[in-house]
Amino acid sequence: MLGAAQLPEPERIEVPVSYAFGPYRSLFPRGAVAHPAKANVHLVERLLELLSSPGDLVLDPFAGTFSTCVVAVLKRREAVGVEINPEYCSWGVEAARRASAQAGRGFGIIQGDAALVGTLLRGSSADAVATSPPYVLSSLHAGDPSKRLGRVLRAGADPREFFGGLARNAMRESSHRYDYYSLGRWIALMRAVLSGLCHTLRSGSLAAFIVRNRLRRGSLLELDSLLASLAREAGFSVEALYVAPAPRSLWANLLSRRGIELPREDRVVVLRR
Ligand SMILES: C[S@@+](CC[C@H](N)C(=O)[O-])C[C@H]1O[C@@H](n2cnc3c(N)ncnc32)[C@H](O)[C@@H]1O
Repeated sequence: MLGAAQLPEPERIEVPVSYAFGPYRSLFPRGAVAHPAKANVHLVERLLELLSSPGDLVLDPFAGTFSTCVVAVLKRREAVGVEINPEYCSWGVEAARRASAQAGRGFGIIQGDAALVGTLLRGSSADAVATSPPYVLSSLHAGDPSKRLGRVLRAGADPREFFGGLARNAMRESSHRYDYYSLGRWIALMRAVLSGLCHTLRSGSLAAFIVRNRLRRGSLLELDSLLASLAREAGFSVEALYVAPAPRSLWANLLSRRGIELPREDRVVVLRR
């Protein structure tokens, strides 16, 4: 049974919010800009400085556009990313080529399931992890977007959980099935990934997970706390909790005009192996 985990007092990280990879834009192919859940590269820069040193191998088990890997090699780290979506991996190949041309080093790309990360890399080979796991959705987000609000209301759910319209539309395409998880599927995935990381991460090293708490069925789903519980279960200790500014979605902007504020921050759970 999972209880709410004791979290350390949150510390604020003041970083600008990046859109479309900010200063790293030229290192990514055009398609990557459309990825629905790109990280804030300024937050990634800061985390890499906190977690790792030049020469370390940084692992991102949910690489997406491979933005963590790009920032890592530009900061003189080695990097490897695992990503399940073949299209995203092809962006990674191009980003690695451009990073190599600019910084003299590329990074490793593994197309595969992060749940198997313990078997994809040698034991104790990674010195740090920086990652953003996929989003959690409720089933109400699936299907025809034009009918979705009606369905949310009929189900008696809080329409505030019906946000991020553009990103949600991506749900309809099967190629995006790994961008959004049901809560149960997310918990199972995180359990497998954390257990794999116990093998892959060098003892004593740090892992940062960027998550966004969100409203679900009208109450706050605290993914930071949930992740901390799962991590402790897997044998990690929880070192720190950071809070950083995040961009506001189109839907959140609309709701804000009606006086409803959605969580608008990235939360970073830092674990020690
Ligand atoms: C929040 S995004 C990561 C975004 C990334 N930090 C960036 O800046 O582009 C999560 C990524 O995890 C990938 N993913 C989901 N399930 C996965 C799995 N089981 N194994 C590997 N990757 C997975 C998704 O395809 C998605 O690209």
